[in-house]
Amino acid sequence: MTAPFLSIRNLGVTFTGGTRPVRAVNDVSLDVAQGEAVALIGESGSGKSVTMRAVMRLNPEKRSKLQGQILVGGRDVMAMNTRQLSAFRGGEAAMIFQEPLLALDPVYTLGDQIVETIRRHEPISRDDARARALELFDRVRIPSAKSRLDNYPHEMSGGMRQRAMIALALSCRPKLLLADEPTTALDATVQIQVLLLLRELQRDLGLSIIFVTHDIGAAVEVADRIAVMYAGQIVEQATARDLIRNPRHPYTLGLLKSRAHDAMVKGTKLDAIPGAPPDLANLPDGCPFAPRCFLADAGCRAGQIGMEQITAGHHARCRRLDQTALQDAG
Ligand SMILES: Nc1ncnc2c1ncn2[C@@H]1O[C@H](COP(=O)(O)OP(=O)(O)OP(=O)(O)O)[C@@H](O)[C@H]1O
Ligand SMILES: [Mg+2]
Repeated sequence: MTAPFLSIRNLGVTFTGGTRPVRAVNDVSLDVAQGEAVALIGESGSGKSVTMRAVMRLNPEKRSKLQGQILVGGRDVMAMNTRQLSAFRGGEAAMIFQEPLLALDPVYTLGDQIVETIRRHEPISRDDARARALELFDRVRIPSAKSRLDNYPHEMSGGMRQRAMIALALSCRPKLLLADEPTTALDATVQIQVLLLLRELQRDLGLSIIFVTHDIGAAVEVADRIAVMYAGQIVEQATARDLIRNPRHPYTLGLLKSRAHDAMVKGTKLDAIPGAPPDLANLPDGCPFAPRCFLADAGCRAGQIGMEQITAGHHARCRRLDQTALQDAG
C-alpha cells in the first residue's frame, strides 16, 4: 500500500486562552490517500474546523497546544517554519471556507486576487497568471468568465462567489483541498451544483480532499470514506457505503435515525439526538458520548476508550460494538 497523502496521527488541539483548557480535538487519526475524497461529519462544535485548521496551522498557536503529527506528502506540517508554511498554504494545500466573503478581499477584483496568489507562489508573468485565472473561472463554470474576473466579490451571487473561491483555492494547483462546509451558506439547489463541481474537480485533478459537512446525504454523495466526529474525537470511520449500511457507533446510529426522521419532517440536519455534547473544558471520564448513549454501562464511563476494528477500513471507538451489530439504523 502506498503512503497516504495526508496522514493525521493522534492529533490533539487544546485551547489554553480561557480560564480552563478546551480540548477541542482529542486523539484524531485520519488518512487521506492521493485522489481520495473523505467527508468529516458531526454536530456543531465537534472539532471539524479545528482539525482542518490544524492541518493548515491556522489555529492561534500562542493560545493552543498541539499534539501528534500531521504529514502532507511526507512533510511534517508541525515542523514547518513561517516561510515553508506560506509556500505550503495555498500552494500544496488549500482550504475553502463556508463563507467566501470572509476569505476574499473586498477591495480587489477576483482576477487580481487570483493573479496575486499565483505570483506569490510561482515565478510567472502577470499575463500568464491572468490566463490561468481565466482558465480556472471556465473550469469552475462561471459564465462570462472573462468579464467576471473584473468583478469585486460583492458583485457576485453566493453560488458564483463560492465558485470563485474554489478557483482561487485551485490557483496554485494544490494536491490537498480542505473544504470546510463550502455550501452551507447557499440555497439547496446551488449547494448541490457546487458539491458536484467539487467532486468533478477532485476526480479530474486527482485531488485529495476533505469535505466537512453537517449533511450525511451530501457526504455519501461526494465522499469515498466518511469519518464521524464527536466531542473532538473520530468515533467511527468507514467507506461511505459501510457507514450507511452498517453503522456501528451509537452516535452514528443516532445521526442516521434522526436523519431518517427529519427527512420526513423537514431538512436533513444532524441535530436531533436527545441531550447535548459535553463541555470540552470539562470532559467526562470515559466515552464522551456515554451520557447520551442508550447502550452505555459503567465501563463506558471510565478510562480511555480505544478505536476498535470492525472490518478492514471500518473502525469505531466504542466498547459496546457487540450490541450495535444487532441494531437497525432505519
Ligand atoms: N480559537 C479558539 N479558541 C478557543 N476555543 C476554540 C477556538 N476555535 C474553536 N474553539 C472551540 O473548539 C470547539 C470545536 O470547534 P470547531 O469550530 O472545530 O467545531 P465544528 O465541528 O467545526 O462546528 P461547526 O459545525 O459549528 O462548524 C468548539 O467548542 C469551539 O468553541
Ligand atoms: Mg466548523
